[in-house]
Amino acid sequence: MTFPANGNSLRGLDALDAAKTEVEKHCPGVVSCADLLAYAARDMIVLSGNPKYDVPAGRRDSFNTPGGLASALPKGNDTVAFLQQAFADRGLTLQDMVVLEGSHSIGQTRCQNTIAEVGSMDKMPDTAKFVDKQFLQMEKQKYCPESKEVLFGELRVPLFPDNPNNSDWGNAFYNHIMKGRGSLPFDVSLAVEQTTKGMVQRYASDSAQWQKMFNEAMVKLGKVNVLTGDQGEIRRNCKWINAVSTA
Ligand code: HEM
Repeated sequence: MTFPANGNSLRGLDALDAAKTEVEKHCPGVVSCADLLAYAARDMIVLSGNPKYDVPAGRRDSFNTPGGLASALPKGNDTVAFLQQAFADRGLTLQDMVVLEGSHSIGQTRCQNTIAEVGSMDKMPDTAKFVDKQFLQMEKQKYCPESKEVLFGELRVPLFPDNPNNSDWGNAFYNHIMKGRGSLPFDVSLAVEQTTKGMVQRYASDSAQWQKMFNEAMVKLGKVNVLTGDQGEIRRNCKWINAVSTA
């Protein structure tokens, strides 16, 4: 199920279903969907070009999926200070946040979350000044034209438009936002805010350090609020809790 915060956003769940079907054939009731998702994220990152890392296993699946969790997802126009607190509430540091944001060198966002959305940078005037105006024009003309504003909840833009084919994983993202070129206001603000701009400059010039820290931060992220032991269940079908699943 999707909610306004992630409607039109969730994709690729068929890959998770296919992996689950295969695993259940050989090893029924052992590997949770939560673990499979963590393995899939790791494998995608490795395929994109990062060194491999081990994913601790043993997560269990929840009995429900409260809609409020989707509403708590970070938004493209949230400020650094706001998300620093959201990450801290989950045991993650400001550095973890800046390091993980490098994953926005791949993937897409809907126009409603971008710098092309009217008012998207109202909470961050310094970022509004810093954004590369030519880049903003290009984003508006090519991907998010004002004439199609009613479709901004569906129209998609690469998170890193200089890399539309998702072929350039990694720290090029930091060089990109240092030039004011990023689809999400929040991403560009990382290169502007005093608390984060030093880290952005460091990762921009040291790819190996960023990759190592990215892997460590992913392992930390994968331990946030997980169910273990006899909590929750191992779902048979990732779409449903076992009580309603026929799989
Ligand atoms: C730090 C705060 C973060 C903010 C503000 C943020 C914001 C966003 C937004 C607005 C989107 C587009 C959603 C849509 O419109 O469909 C997005 C996509 C994405 N985010 Fe983040 N995100 C954050 C953290 C992360 C983290 C920690 C990761 C992974 C480690 C991540 C990985 C991705 C990826 C891969 C996509 C593309 C998904 C796709 O192509 O379908 N983000 N993010």
